[in-house]
This record gives sequence, C-alpha cells and structure tokens, in this order.
Amino acid sequence: MDQIIVKGGGELNGVIPIAGAKNAALTLMPATLLTEEPLTLTNAPRLSDIKTMTELLGSLGAEVAAMQGGKVLALSSHNIHNHTADYDIVRKMRASILVLGPMLARDGHAVVSLPGGCAIGARPVDLHLKAFEAMGAELDLRDGYVHAKAPGGRLKGAVINFDFASVGATENALLAATLAKGTTEIRNAAREPEIVDLAQCLRKMGAQIEGEGTSVITVQGVDRLGGATHPVVTDRIELGTYMLAPLVCGGTVECLGGTIDLVGAFCEKLDAAGASVEQTETGLKVSRKNGRIQAVDVTTEPFPGFPTDLQAQMMALLCTAEGTSTLEEKIFENRFMHAPELIRMGAKIDVHGGHATVTGVDKLKGAPVMATDLRASVSLILAGLAAEGETVVSRVYHLDRGYEHVEDKLSAVGASIERVKES
Ligand code: EPZ
Repeated sequence: MDQIIVKGGGELNGVIPIAGAKNAALTLMPATLLTEEPLTLTNAPRLSDIKTMTELLGSLGAEVAAMQGGKVLALSSHNIHNHTADYDIVRKMRASILVLGPMLARDGHAVVSLPGGCAIGARPVDLHLKAFEAMGAELDLRDGYVHAKAPGGRLKGAVINFDFASVGATENALLAATLAKGTTEIRNAAREPEIVDLAQCLRKMGAQIEGEGTSVITVQGVDRLGGATHPVVTDRIELGTYMLAPLVCGGTVECLGGTIDLVGAFCEKLDAAGASVEQTETGLKVSRKNGRIQAVDVTTEPFPGFPTDLQAQMMALLCTAEGTSTLEEKIFENRFMHAPELIRMGAKIDVHGGHATVTGVDKLKGAPVMATDLRASVSLILAGLAAEGETVVSRVYHLDRGYEHVEDKLSAVGASIERVKES
C-alpha cells in the first residue's frame, strides 16, 4: 500500500484544476441502465470509485469505455444480461446501491446486495427501499440482498416523503421515477448540486423533471429514454479541500473551475475565519486576509448547509486557528476518526459523540498517521502541509477513491509532497 510523505511549512502559490464531481459521476453512470442509447459523460474524474462503478455496470452487461485518459466515459446498456449486483463489488462502494432504481425502472426486477456500513457509519438504505415500495415495488430482503420486483414490470408514480433529505435515496428515487407510469413527487428531497446535475442529464435523455435543487422534485414518467452527452459538474468537495490548502500554510491559490454557488455555506465560514475568497474569470482565488486564521463554529447539514464531506478538512485548518472552535457532525454518527490522528500531530481536540472542540495551537508537528476514510485522509495531508517536519500518511488507498493525483496537484503549487511504496 502506498504512503504519502508531506514536508510542511512552505507557502503555496499557483493554480489547482478541480475535477468533475465523484458524487455526481457515481449517480450519472447508473443512468445508462435506463436506456439502450449511448450515454457519454465528459469532465469525468479519474478515481478508483469510478473504476469500481465501471466494474459493477460491466458485471450487469453494460459497456463503459474510458477515453481521453478517463475524462470521457462512453456508456451503453443495450445488452443487460444480469440483474444481480454482487456483494463483492457492492461492499467496496456504497454508491453501488444506485443501480437498483434504474434496473427496477427499466426491466422491472433487480437483485442488489445491501451495501453494509462503512467507517463513518451504519449507513442504512431504508429510505431508498421505502421510496421503491411507495412506487409499487415488492421487496424481499434475504441473504444480505434486496430482491426487488415491479408488478406488471413497471413502477408507478407516487408521492414519496423522505424523513431525511438523503442524497442517495433522492437520486435512486429520481432515477426510478423517470420511467414509472404516472407522476412521482419526491418531498424533502436532497438539494445537493449533484442531484441538480443528475436531473439536467436525465432531462437531456428525455425525462420530464421539475424542481431539482429544491425540496420537492416532480417527475412525469415516460415510456422510454434516449441517450445524451453531459459534462459532470465540478467537484465541490475537491474544490473546498484545495481552497483550504493556502489557508493552512499561507500563499494564494486559484482553484480552476470553482464557483461560489457550489460552496456557499463553506465560503461564509472561511470568511468568518479570516480567508479571502475571490471569484475570478477562471475559478476561486483563496488566501488569508491577514495573519492568523480565527476560530469558528461549524455544524454540518444537508445542502445548502455546511457539507459533512468538508468537516474533516475544516478541522485540519482549525487546529492552528487562533481561539477555540466547535464542530458538530449531524449527518454521520462516526465522522471524527481524523481527530486522533491530528492529535498525534499536536492538535488539541476533544470529541464527545457528534461534537468536537478544537483549541488552536501555534504549530502542528509532522508524524506518521493513518488514513481511515476518504475525507479524513485528505485532512491529514492538509495538516501535514501546515506542520513542522515530515508527515507520513499511510493507507492512502482511501484518498485515491476521491482525489485525482493529490500529490501532483499540491506539488504544482509548491508543496513538498510525494507518494512512495509502503516500506
Ligand atoms: C452521499 O452519501 C455522498 N456519497 C457522501 O459522500 C456524503 O457524505 C453524503 O451523501 C451526505 O452529503 C455519494 O454521493 C456517493 P445520505 P449518501 O443518504 O447518499 C442516513 C464522500 O466522502 N440514511 O444523504 O449515503 C445515513 O446513514 C461520501 O464522498 C439513512 O438513515 O448520504 C447518513 O447518516 C461520504 N437511511 C445520512 O442519512 C437511508 O436510506 C446521510 O446519508 C439513507 C441515508
């Protein structure tokens, strides 16, 4: 397993290109299952999660060709010969559950392994299943799999009320509703930009959707969908992550492709902490307003609130802020695993349940640390950039799930960072 070695202290200056969103691509790719026509995704990110989704779709009979080094994905599902998504693929990536809706909608049946939990939480899929039952599906949970059937081979439009604005459940319901018979209304829908991106792609394929980006999405089911070409929206989590780089160690970095609307609540917090964020013609230019970053309080919420996927990275910044910050994690039950690793670097953090208190210190000290999940791993890299001395991050396979060539992007703006094979 690879390690990443970061030598901290230097300022960062230059530009960082932001890739297409992992969490948009992972819901756009299963849309191929809704049609026999070709679906082409441009601005796709080159990540291991995309490879896993490619493997899963391939196991069902879909063809996924990666072109231009993986930036363009050509997908085609004119020959789906298997409707079972196996545990050995699904367990690697929870987003695999997103093939359930499209398969059920197009072919009236599907068998998908329950994804199981992951490091940050139990992550049940009850809201996904509730949505499909509302649309008339008959579900049988056995041997760790969901066996789903649509009576008469077709789902029917329904009113779906989500107890929680779940991103994945909203995406699964939206995918399924496009081919259901009649109208579907998704209430308390998630409002993330990735859902807006999915709706825009589905509309190009012929779907009739209104309200994406608001809490109520209405879908008029159609009999069939066509193909489309669609650019994956910019990754707001990669964007937010790299916006923090010049803030943890000084300098000015422009994140190419970044726009304020993707990171509104996050930018408000950065402003309060003493960051300057400027929208330029080509992206977001970020630097410290003056001197030290100030402590702020953060609570994670569904979009448009502060994103849970930026909580670990923000904590890395607040470790050396002036004053005491609090972070409240309200989306996942166990998303502070980066805290013990940051403490090894000299951070002062107290965690109680979903609540963390961070008392800023002058400097962190480099140390060997362990990545535990995708966003925790990149928060350790950010901390390493700010720390005195060398930080060695192991288990960076977590990182490669969601960040393209992190060492190349950071070294291009002056970071001393390299990837080595684990000794
Ligand atoms: C998506 O996960 C993202 N993943 C996550 O990003 C992100 O953290 C999350 O949304 C919240 O923004 C992808 O898009 C592939 P949820 P998802 O359904 O859909 C509970 C990353 O780092 N819940 O909004 O799984 C659940 O347990 C990843 O890129 C239910 O109880 O998120 C969690 O506590 C991590 N029942 C909360 O809702 C359900 O049926 C949020 O889950 C579904 C969810």
